[in-house]
Amino acid sequence: MKNRLQQFQSDGFLILEGFNTSTECDELIRQARELSGSYNFECHPSVFQTTDQAKTTDDYFLNSGDRISFFFEKDAFDNSGKLKNDLFHSLNKIGHALHDLDPVFNSFSRSPQMKKLVAELGLSNSLIIQSMYILKHAKIGGVVDVHQDSSFLYTEPESCIGFWFALEDTTKENGCMWAMPGGHRTALRSWFRIKEEGGTELFILDNEPISMEGMIPLEVKKGTCIVLNGLLPHYSLPNTSSKSRQAYAIHTINRHAHYPTTNWLQRNIEELRGFE
Ligand code: FE2
Repeated sequence: MKNRLQQFQSDGFLILEGFNTSTECDELIRQARELSGSYNFECHPSVFQTTDQAKTTDDYFLNSGDRISFFFEKDAFDNSGKLKNDLFHSLNKIGHALHDLDPVFNSFSRSPQMKKLVAELGLSNSLIIQSMYILKHAKIGGVVDVHQDSSFLYTEPESCIGFWFALEDTTKENGCMWAMPGGHRTALRSWFRIKEEGGTELFILDNEPISMEGMIPLEVKKGTCIVLNGLLPHYSLPNTSSKSRQAYAIHTINRHAHYPTTNWLQRNIEELRGFE
């Protein structure tokens, strides 16, 4: 029988059921609601939709690396620019420094079980570079197109690892994650970066289309942690059900890898912390 490290190395992902308690999940859900309640969106409306990265080039997005920023669903506003739903139910995600700025998110991200897990996976040299709270509301949450996380957190050599936490049960109906076991044994296809003339681009590194064959639904219970190799292609479908699918994710890079200044997400690397 494979241990957790061997399983992760062979599949490119690792599913850890019962990683967080129900109470820990509920505390995070409560805190996300609290944070969104304090957001004055009229100053900075921003849409986050991965199907059209080129449009998400506004300063609010690019400056969110060391802040707690709020991103709307693509269809959140009506033609007159008014929100169709209440603010909380219009949000797609919150990011990208929750783990450093909010005490509840900090505790969840640097929990005793996380410290143990990163040691076990040989990731003690990791820095937590970003965090995201993903809403995926019932009947509202949109698609996340197939992608590799390393495209958005590019390092030389490649070192991005994701930790994705199900705060509610995930099913095919409410838009669970899909991936292919072993799918990480492939090249990085693209690099989302800042162009010389300003704005962002998805720079193509390899034209080979990502194979969708063998993708399986990762339907997991509340409290499950899924560890993801940065090269593993994964995606999720829209939430067409009446149940929300809230999740939290953090991403790490190796502290000795080179983090280009042209990456879309800018943090002061010297100030980044690991799991300590
Ligand atoms: Fe991802």
